[in-house]
Amino acid sequence: MAAKRVLLGSLMLTATVCFLHAAARAEASPGEAVFRSRCANCHSLTGGLSTIAPDLTGIVGRKVAAVKDYQYSAALRSADFTWTPEKLDQWLRSPHGVALETEMAFTGLASEKDRRDVIEFLKQHFAK
Ligand code: HEC
Repeated sequence: MAAKRVLLGSLMLTATVCFLHAAARAEASPGEAVFRSRCANCHSLTGGLSTIAPDLTGIVGRKVAAVKDYQYSAALRSADFTWTPEKLDQWLRSPHGVALETEMAFTGLASEKDRRDVIEFLKQHFAK
């Protein structure tokens, strides 16, 4: 009888842990939330067609202005660097500080935490 109760107790505990696990996974990471609210209006992360803005799949470690079907501004086309987390941080703080004539109509992410979170999120989106 006692053994049965212990077994039942541990089954319930397992079920609770699984439930909490699934709930935590379903919740968006802080970086994903920043991306959705501040970037997703213009940028996709699907590797699809880039119309308003270049797709950002695999952006960390990608060369600047590398999306073939996107018409970049002359400012980005003539730039020559790779997007490291540090470079992205500068860009997100002040796009016009990195490329004066960029067409990214974005005033910047003032919060250092938001920048760190969204860069962390972008790191997880590598090209397939
Ligand atoms: C209002 C639309 C808009 C928003 C919002 C926006 N961007 Fe952009 N972004 C652009 C455009 C347009 C370009 C291309 C700029 C150019 O050609 O000069 C660009 C370019 C970029 C690039 C360079 C891409 C490459 O291939 O070199 C990065 C990185 C980037 N954006 C990241 C972000 C992130 C991260 C956010 C959110 C925090 C964001 N952008 C928000 C429109 C936007």
